[in-house]
Amino acid sequence: MSATVKRPCTAAEQAGLDPERIPAHVAIIMDGNGRWARAQGKDRLSGHWQGYRTLKNIVYAADELGVRYLTVYGFSSENWRRPQEEVGGLMHLMLQAMRAEIEELIQNRVRVRVLGRLHELPPDLRREFEEAMRRTQNFDRLTFNLAINYGGRAEVVDAVRLLARKLQRGEITPNDIDEAAVAAHLYAPDIPDPDLLIRTAGELRLSNFLLWETAYSEIYVTPVCWPDFSRQHLIAALADYQRRTRKFGAVVE
Ligand code: IPE
Ligand code: IPE
Ligand code: MG
Repeated sequence: MSATVKRPCTAAEQAGLDPERIPAHVAIIMDGNGRWARAQGKDRLSGHWQGYRTLKNIVYAADELGVRYLTVYGFSSENWRRPQEEVGGLMHLMLQAMRAEIEELIQNRVRVRVLGRLHELPPDLRREFEEAMRRTQNFDRLTFNLAINYGGRAEVVDAVRLLARKLQRGEITPNDIDEAAVAAHLYAPDIPDPDLLIRTAGELRLSNFLLWETAYSEIYVTPVCWPDFSRQHLIAALADYQRRTRKFGAVVE
């Protein structure tokens, strides 16, 4: 017998990644559904449906590669500005998708959370999301956060309002309002900040996504439109992340 040869055993190793340095939290701005559809000569909604298929793939790929938290931007607080037909189509898609996927998510012990102003969503969609959160709340595999009717500024405003109420009730004083206090009142205070933020379809902007939480996230932008984004593209983003030096303002030799 030859000396032991270390064989890749985890999915991360098989993909050529260092399993010790997989980002715990990956956030994705899933952009480019409309451009993808246009290039195919299809309507924008078929781009969104294809984007749903991509998302399903990426959720399970991220889990398999060892990502602990995946947060995706599904509908921004500014996306209401789109034509009514597209907005309605997206609400319908989210409802159908949640209904179609919930059992498989449960089987895979994925915890689902929805971040955003849920009370402004159509009641049936809100109920479906609340049900999904309730049914998966004790799961310990990937935590899958869906940012829906989400705005980074709105999230900070909502946190400030909660703090203002506590102040008004005399539960805190102005000096208690520090970074930790604001962070503790965001939509998912128990989840660590994203290590890696991926944006598909090439735009170099945040579009009001996770403004507070991405203060020190590594940013990766790919020209690939979301419907074409694959497990291989995710692996490429993770490999790029593993070549970065994170400094958090300090000097790192
Ligand atoms: C992202 O794709 C999905 C949502 C915003 C819901 P877009 O619909 O923004 O696609 P482009 O940017 O028009 O190509
Ligand atoms: C951000 O994409 C929102 C989502 C991906 C859900 P947009 O397409 O809405 O962003 P802008 O308008 O290009 O900045
Ligand atoms: Mg877009």
